[in-house]
Amino acid sequence: MPTKPVPVLTIDGPSGSGKGTISQLVADQLGWHLLDSGALYRAVGYAAGAAGLDLSDEEAMARCAQTTKIRFSVPGDGGETRVIVNGHDATDELRTETAGAAASAIAAFPGVRSALFDKQKGFRKAPGLVADGRDMGTVIFPDAGHKVFLTASAEERARRRYKQLKDKGLNVTLAALLREIQARDERDASRTVAPLRPAVDALTIDTTGIPVAGVVAAVLSVVRPA
Ligand code: C5P
Repeated sequence: MPTKPVPVLTIDGPSGSGKGTISQLVADQLGWHLLDSGALYRAVGYAAGAAGLDLSDEEAMARCAQTTKIRFSVPGDGGETRVIVNGHDATDELRTETAGAAASAIAAFPGVRSALFDKQKGFRKAPGLVADGRDMGTVIFPDAGHKVFLTASAEERARRRYKQLKDKGLNVTLAALLREIQARDERDASRTVAPLRPAVDALTIDTTGIPVAGVVAAVLSVVRPA
């Protein structure tokens, strides 16, 4: 008898759409694994910066994506997942907007994306996977059985990022965040490889003004219809 493929729920969307929070909560509820694909791009950008490489050098970035060792360390006590890059715990550095901008710059290079392709596929393990990113439903797991695309107005997304970063003690302004978010969206949506867009078979959920619990319920109903 043919074996059933491991189920996948893809959650794509622009920065600040709530993907990270929602993906974690939904994965916890389903008891599925979680892939934070943005962390992989952030880790490569970070490793490149740490090695003093030129982020606009496509060949060097592709090589860096192939050789950077990235490991997610999930604490048993339900604490925060740590991201270990080339043996160094880079979790805090990866959260900054600088790391987000570096990730977005190198993510436009096809060589970087293909270097991370198999690594991302490798996260598909039983009993299931929640995959958070920009191209999870379109490129990495096009055969996923469940796909959502989360959006929210740019202003709301900037406000969410502002609160998140402030809570973590980072020094940011709302106006600067809004500008950065809009620039990152523009770059992610207009690049030629794997641009940010909903898969044709994804359910788009506008999360503007909806509390987290409401979004989690809406996403879960895609996996477990009533
Ligand atoms: O989701 P996060 O903000 O951590 O992603 C950082 C950047 O990495 C995004 O702005 C995007 O350019 C890139 N990215 C991507 N494809 C993914 C995940 C992230 O291009 N699947």
